[in-house]
Amino acid sequence: MNEKGAFLNRRPIITIDGPAGAGKSTICSLLAARLSFICLETGALYRAEAYRLKLQGWNGNPENRADTKCLPDIALKQDKGRTRVIVGGRDVTEIIRTEEIGLMASTISAMPEIRQKLLPLQRELAAEGGVVAEGRDMGSVVFPDADVKFYLDASVEERVKRRYLEMSSKDARINWKDIENDLILRDGQDRGRFISPLVVPADAVVIDSSNQSVAEVIDFMISVIERILPSRKCL
Ligand code: DC
Repeated sequence: MNEKGAFLNRRPIITIDGPAGAGKSTICSLLAARLSFICLETGALYRAEAYRLKLQGWNGNPENRADTKCLPDIALKQDKGRTRVIVGGRDVTEIIRTEEIGLMASTISAMPEIRQKLLPLQRELAAEGGVVAEGRDMGSVVFPDADVKFYLDASVEERVKRRYLEMSSKDARINWKDIENDLILRDGQDRGRFISPLVVPADAVVIDSSNQSVAEVIDFMISVIERILPSRKCL
């Protein structure tokens, strides 16, 4: 039994929610490695979905919806603690990390039929537990009974800086202002949508990582997990 009084008939599920650029993917992967858990990056599913629609000719305009029939299959694979995304048999993990696909993913994530389609898939992927799942609605909607919930935040300036450093190392044309505009637009879309908006789950531990290193955040999370799940045998 865990501290919340729930009997665990699966290994624990730990959720990390938060806005774009807060460091969720990096933290999810490192925390999962520390616990020998799987890291489930659910944004990758929304990005893969957006990418499939783009392949069908969708231009990102929510008014101009692409035909969702005959889309190539999506599969997720775990590789060295990261989620790899396969669309139509092709590994698109790196291709879908662009700002353009991130924004398209945010746009389609407000569509009820897309969320309904991806909800059971996410639960299936975490059915046995032993998972750190990151996204926007992990603790609030997808895994409301998660054993430990975190909400990872950082200031807009810090999040833009992190995104800029990540993106500019891959593409010299990346510009600070564009990243800032995209991030603010995405924050508005993700927090303001009608269905499963980004919220702080009621029972989440909130972490502002603006002035914390990755190692400090991970150590703090481990201390919280050990307090909530005192029997490390569960892990
Ligand atoms: O975490 P990310 O940047 O890869 O996510 C891309 C978009 O997908 C994000 O802006 C909103 C959407 N998303 C979501 O609505 N729910 C999730 N659980 C994960 C991502």
